Amino acid sequence: MSDLRIAIVGAGIIGHTHAATLADVRGVALSAVVDPIAGADVAERHGVPLFTDVGALLDAGVADAAIVASPNDTHVPITSALLRAGLPVLLEKPVANSVADGEALIAVAEETGVPVLVGHHRRHNPIIKAAKAAITAGRLGDLVTATVNSTLAKPSSYFDVAWRRGSASGGPLSINLIHEIDLLRHFWGEVAEVRAFASNHHRGFDVEDTAAAILVFASGGIATLTISDAATGPWAWDVTAGENPARFPAHDTIAHAYAGTLAALSLPDLAFWRPADEPDWTVRMTRGTLPCTPADPYIGQIEHFAAVARGNASPLVSLADGVANMRVIEAIKTSAANGAPAQPMRL
Ligand SMILES: NC(=O)c1ccc[n+]([C@@H]2O[C@H](COP(=O)([O-])OP(=O)(O)OC[C@H]3O[C@@H](n4cnc5c(N)ncnc54)[C@H](O)[C@@H]3O)[C@@H](O)[C@H]2O)c1
Repeated sequence: MSDLRIAIVGAGIIGHTHAATLADVRGVALSAVVDPIAGADVAERHGVPLFTDVGALLDAGVADAAIVASPNDTHVPITSALLRAGLPVLLEKPVANSVADGEALIAVAEETGVPVLVGHHRRHNPIIKAAKAAITAGRLGDLVTATVNSTLAKPSSYFDVAWRRGSASGGPLSINLIHEIDLLRHFWGEVAEVRAFASNHHRGFDVEDTAAAILVFASGGIATLTISDAATGPWAWDVTAGENPARFPAHDTIAHAYAGTLAALSLPDLAFWRPADEPDWTVRMTRGTLPCTPADPYIGQIEHFAAVARGNASPLVSLADGVANMRVIEAIKTSAANGAPAQPMRL
């Protein structure tokens, strides 16, 4: 079987990660780069053509599938053009700039019947698979509380790129917290209600730099989440899980803590705390670790995308998931703006 020819649209930070990952996966090959400004380095390193827009890529006929890793506000038009040309897409998150635009993209995907995998890469991480298996097996009981921290102090150079500063497509809620929302929905189901606060006090951009949200799940569990791209600290998935050693350190601490009616689990260390008998806060619990063999989730994601593009698998993270995650983020923003609860889902 010949290699699946994959084009990368958007050769920025994550585009470079995808290009490096494609080189590590058998059965796929980077076949082109599309970027109106950058990308010459990646194209040259891999010996593939560079195009300035998706139309030129499609005219050249050099791709069987594409990864869309351009700024958020370009996701819907670019992905629509690729789907209409019959190319399966691995689409970075957030899938659109608004829920309405995301729903329009779902309509294009349904009309064309061409698959979209959303780039919530953590779902391909064996840590997440181990946690999901334990939760699904009922080992924690029902979710009572979840605590999620994201201290993501970014260097000032990160904000040289205009789209990351604007309220339309930037901010740690849309760029980062959406990954946590995806995991929480994956583990615990849909979110019924949200209350949130957001602040731009530390960076002074239009968009928030810091936010706190309380999510009430349809199942009754309650989660508290804090996130900031101005807060210095080791408590975030990105800087504890060791997923992307080329970009991030892996501090030896936790980012997520789940407490159920029966037991507790933290991530990414997979520490599993359980009582010997009936739960009782006066009795010492035992600490174990859920078994897990580490693997690179970006590689797992590309392997899965190749299977999706070849028609051998359905997307593990669907476009509907991507839009549902955006609904929760929009509810967080609405609640923060209005000082009132907001409901993300049509339950
Ligand atoms: N899954 C992850 O781990 C992860 C990590 C980082 C970013 N992301 C997402 O990936 C996307 C890109 O983020 P980034 O930080 O790499 O951005 P970036 O700004 O570093 O790179 C974006 C690139 O897209 C190019 N571009 C702009 N308009 C384009 C167009 N019309 N067609 C093709 N290319 C175009 C830019 O020139 C730039 O090179 C965002 O949606 C972001 O949320 C995902």
